[in-house]
Order: sequence, then C-alpha cells, then structure tokens
Amino acid sequence: MSDFLEEQKRIEEKIWSLAQIKCGVKVLDVGIGENAHSTKELIGLGALVTAMDTDSKTLNKHKNLKIYLVKGGASQLPFISSEFDFSVAYFTLHEIDPNLHQKVVSELIRVSQSVMMVEPELGEDRLYGVYRDIWSRAMHSIGRFEDYQPLTYWKKSLEECGANVVVCQKIAHEDKLMGIEADKFMKGVIGMVRNYGVPKGYVSEFRDLAEDVKRLGMSFSDISVVIGDVS
Ligand SMILES: C[S@@+](CC[C@H](N)C(=O)[O-])C[C@H]1O[C@@H](n2cnc3c(N)ncnc32)[C@H](O)[C@@H]1O
Repeated sequence: MSDFLEEQKRIEEKIWSLAQIKCGVKVLDVGIGENAHSTKELIGLGALVTAMDTDSKTLNKHKNLKIYLVKGGASQLPFISSEFDFSVAYFTLHEIDPNLHQKVVSELIRVSQSVMMVEPELGEDRLYGVYRDIWSRAMHSIGRFEDYQPLTYWKKSLEECGANVVVCQKIAHEDKLMGIEADKFMKGVIGMVRNYGVPKGYVSEFRDLAEDVKRLGMSFSDISVVIGDVS
C-alpha cells in the first residue's frame, strides 16, 4: 500500500475509533457519496444503516448494499424524532449551503441520540489553499457548494442546537502528497470535476496546480471530528 493510502487508513481508523459504534446500533448516514466509504465502514462495524442522499444516481449505485437507502435532503429529514441511535455526516456538510447548516444540525439532533460530523479543516499549506479555493469556485459555478469551515464552527453549531459535545478533535495528516501519488490523486480530481461539468477554466487551474503539487508536495488539512450527544 502506498504511503498516501496508509495515511488515509490511519486517519480513518482514528475517526471511527472516536465514534465507538457498537454492533446493532441504528445509524443514519447522511450523504452516502459516490464511494460510500462511511456507509461501508458502518456496515463493517455491524451497525443497522440507513443512508441518504439528495442525488438519485448516487443512491442507485449502492443498491447492492443491504441497507435502507433514502432519497432526501439533510435539512428536512423524513424520519420521526429519535429514530436513530447515531447520525453521521462524513464529509457531507461542506457540500451543503452554509445558510442551511443550523437547520441540518438541528434535524440530525432531532432524529438521533448522538451526532458525528467529520469535515476537512481549512488547512495551512499554500498549495492546499489553492486546491480548496479552486474546488469552492468550481462548485459554486454550477450551483453546488464546497465550503470548508474550522472545527470551532461545527462545535458551535452542535452546541447552539443544545447538544453536549463529547468529542472535538483535529486529526493531522503527517505526510505530504507529491510525485507519482500526487499525479494519481490530481488526475482523479480532474476526472471528478469534468464529470460535474464545470467550465473548462477550472479544469485548467487544477492541471496547473497538479504540476506544482507533483513537484513541491501538498499537505492536506487536518480532519475535524465533532461528536455531540443529546441529553
Ligand atoms: C463527499 S460525499 C460524502 C462522502 C461519503 N459520506 C463517503 O464517506 O464516501 C457528499 C454527498 O452528500 C450529498 N449531499 C449534498 N447535499 C446534501 C443534502 N442536503 N442532504 C443529503 N445529502 C447531500 C452529495 O450528493 C454527496 O453524495
């Protein structure tokens, strides 16, 4: 396994150890995503998973998973109060209009006993700043969102909805992405934004960035993990 993948694995293990999901727990995973990483992890931990997404195509890709799949938006969850033990938003909240964040968090709290949010921090590396900025502008150009926030923002949003924050941690990336691994990663990013149909200018910006990342290396931002319990 490459250094980059090993680091991803280490970070994921740390995140899920903080969640302490037990076998048989009822979990809502908001934003299943293309690869369903969080959903598959939850299934592996023995949780009874309901996964949702606003995008039907994305949901259809995961029909083979033996879980409940629900189409819907996180700001109006189609579930009764306290239906779940745990709800998870794993790299989903930054794709939601920030004006809806408070509503989304209050919905997650309404339907579950505990809420876990996992989000990228803003990051300090110069090239990561460029990467984050291109993503954000590219997604805004097609009416979507890709807006990262600091850890304190997510903590506050849970507290303002009355949750008791029990975990509030940043998990650091230690390795720089560079060379062949950077090339592979940036090709994946370029493929993704092309699929989204963003204007060509953003694809060129990512291509230029890829050259710098390959040569100079890029440090990813820390990952924020915030877990709140409802009393
Ligand atoms: C980056 S992906 C999530 C990754 C996924 N959790 C994983 O671990 O692979 C974000 C997903 O959130 C979905 N999404 C965006 N806005 C949403 C909303 N308001 N409610 C529910 N899902 C939403 C997107 O369609 C996308 O599939």
